Amino acid sequence: MSHSLVNDRYIKATLRQETDRTPIWMMRQAGRYLPEYRQLRAEAGSFMDLCTNPELACEVTLQPLRRFPLDAAILFSDILTIPDAMGLGLYFTPGEGPAFKKVVRDEQTVKALPIPDPNQELKYVTDAVSTIRRELKGSVPLIGFSGSPWTLATYMVEGGTTKNFSEVKGLMYENPKAMHMLLDKLADSIIVYLNAQVEAGAQALMIFDTWGGVLTPHDYQEFSLRYMSKIVDGLQRQKDGQQIPVTLFTKGGGKWLDLMAETGCDCLGVDWTTDLSEARQRVDGKTALQGNMDPSLLYASDDRIREEVETILASYGHGSGHVFNLGHGIHQTVNPEKAGVFINAVHELSKKYHQ
Ligand code: CP3
Repeated sequence: MSHSLVNDRYIKATLRQETDRTPIWMMRQAGRYLPEYRQLRAEAGSFMDLCTNPELACEVTLQPLRRFPLDAAILFSDILTIPDAMGLGLYFTPGEGPAFKKVVRDEQTVKALPIPDPNQELKYVTDAVSTIRRELKGSVPLIGFSGSPWTLATYMVEGGTTKNFSEVKGLMYENPKAMHMLLDKLADSIIVYLNAQVEAGAQALMIFDTWGGVLTPHDYQEFSLRYMSKIVDGLQRQKDGQQIPVTLFTKGGGKWLDLMAETGCDCLGVDWTTDLSEARQRVDGKTALQGNMDPSLLYASDDRIREEVETILASYGHGSGHVFNLGHGIHQTVNPEKAGVFINAVHELSKKYHQ
């Protein structure tokens, strides 16, 4: 397998090396806003049928790259593959999001959870990674990913999507020992899972901490950040002489970027509630930054989108270390043409920040 990339802007920017313009990819860039995705999902049967078939997962990964000049591909999968592989029985109900047949609410259940073998129960994921790597033919890097321990725990304890996190916070406050045991087991599972993705060909890694921002500052450090830090320490950070950059993203974690930077990760994702200028001060040269346009700007006029891109580029300012992205996943009702306007604006307007 060749390791040289035709377009390595994403890798360089996450490592704070100079590029000719700011690289861009979009969270959830493969998905329901694309008609070709909806068609393939209908043919396959369901979302999980796409995820578990490496050829289809590869095809879906490549769909946005055929439309748009993106600087990175992201593995088409889900963060809930790990709890599913632990035996919880993941399923999706239209309009209600993900859910599990079994929940985890006591110490005994936590103790009985297995650490999934990435080469057995999760082999469909590493097979998808190697298939995608082959088909990308070195054009752009492939990002592998997982959820954070805290975010996975919220789904496992609640049994699905939740409004006020009563079950998971209840367990955290009533039985912190059981919660720590669960988070530690998840961290160990994620380390072997992500290292297996690297082994299969992932050239960068990202950890999605979608629900870290619902915690108090103290609890964030104890129940979320501590375990992401453990993962960063356990990851393979180099392969065949190439660095494997690691990005951490806590939605709503703008106030904690300085603490997150201390984990030794390479890049931090930022949502739209924090200005990149402030984020850049907070990380003080320790990491690159990824973000952070509000995904709802893609409902605005082309001119308004370009104006927002300019504002964000100016907020980050000159120099290396910025990966442009949305501040969260693209919404399913966005017109794909708007994504094209957004991506082209980043290409055009970012050049002057790299001279
Ligand atoms: O970014 C990408 O293009 C890669 C693929 C990807 C998916 N999910 C595909 C997906 C990634 C990186 C994820 C991560 C993920 N999954 C997160 C973290 C990121 C975030 O958005 O905060 C979370 C919290 C999940 C859990 C999950 N999976 C949710 C909440 C949903 C939506 C459920 C719904 O019905 O709205 C999913 C399903 C899912 N994952 C879809 C996609 C494209 C939609 C499934 C479909 O086709 O119906």
